[in-house]
Amino acid sequence: MSSQIIVSGVNKVFRTPEKDVIALKDINLTINPGEFVCLLGPSGCGKSTLLNAVAGFSLPSSGSITAAGATVTGPGPERGMVFQEYALFPWMTVAQNIAFGLEVKGLGKAEIAAKVESLLDTLSLKDFRNRFPKDLSGGMRQRVAIARVLALDSPIMLMDEPFGALDALTRRNLQDELLRIWKEFGKTILFVTHSIEESIYLADRIVVMTYRPGTIKRDQWVDIPRPRDPAAPAFNELKRELGRLVMEEQQRHAADELKLAAVD
Ligand SMILES: Nc1ncnc2c1ncn2[C@@H]1O[C@H](COP(=O)(O)OP(=O)(O)OP(=O)(O)O)[C@@H](O)[C@H]1O
Ligand SMILES: [Mg+2]
Repeated sequence: MSSQIIVSGVNKVFRTPEKDVIALKDINLTINPGEFVCLLGPSGCGKSTLLNAVAGFSLPSSGSITAAGATVTGPGPERGMVFQEYALFPWMTVAQNIAFGLEVKGLGKAEIAAKVESLLDTLSLKDFRNRFPKDLSGGMRQRVAIARVLALDSPIMLMDEPFGALDALTRRNLQDELLRIWKEFGKTILFVTHSIEESIYLADRIVVMTYRPGTIKRDQWVDIPRPRDPAAPAFNELKRELGRLVMEEQQRHAADELKLAAVD
């Protein structure tokens, strides 16, 4: 199954009683199998809207999205989603959370046990297998969320600021884990962030979005060999350039908010 994602002429309008919000406007984007692409932009530029459209949670107003060869009409097993807020079942242990999707799929007991064991190992969760989510740190919870997606063998991973709530060290640690998993399992990853540094650290390509209406402002290759050193000149040069692009959009966002405040 090819894990290509093709976003073609996508528009998304949210109709609210006060006005229509054009969240996405004419988005065209192809993500090739095995690519790691980051969507970057300030708050409100439509990153989650685009990701949710690819996930099939909220379909475009017009245009089309194809994932793994089929038109997206809703969620599907070939697209796994990891949210910022850990979507774990609080009444299940770590191992049970990872096993859940496999049970739904109807796999046999022995196969489930073997798979859960291997994922606990891959994500260094062995010592935490019998804990409940409330007894885990944020970083550990995100490891479980990633393990759950890996359990389903989804060739495409969609991630919405998955490390946004973590402290800097835990975040770097999980970024490294994710890069290792991406390489090892050959996943196609679409990853939303508003951290410029995170996008340069992770991505093959960074898609910078504009603030309302959300369009693609820059589709930037990251031509820096991994592992990437955030202190290296090439890293900093790209950081400055992307910083300039994001700042322009941030200012448009701020101006918009001031306008709204003046109306109130
Ligand atoms: N259900 C909705 N109804 C109305 N407007 C919405 C809805 N969802 C999103 N929007 C608007 O669409 C625009 C894009 O929102 P979106 O959540 O995709 O932004 P984002 O880039 O993910 O921002 P953040 O970084 O804050 O998560 C925003 O202006 C937002 O207010
Ligand atoms: Mg968002």
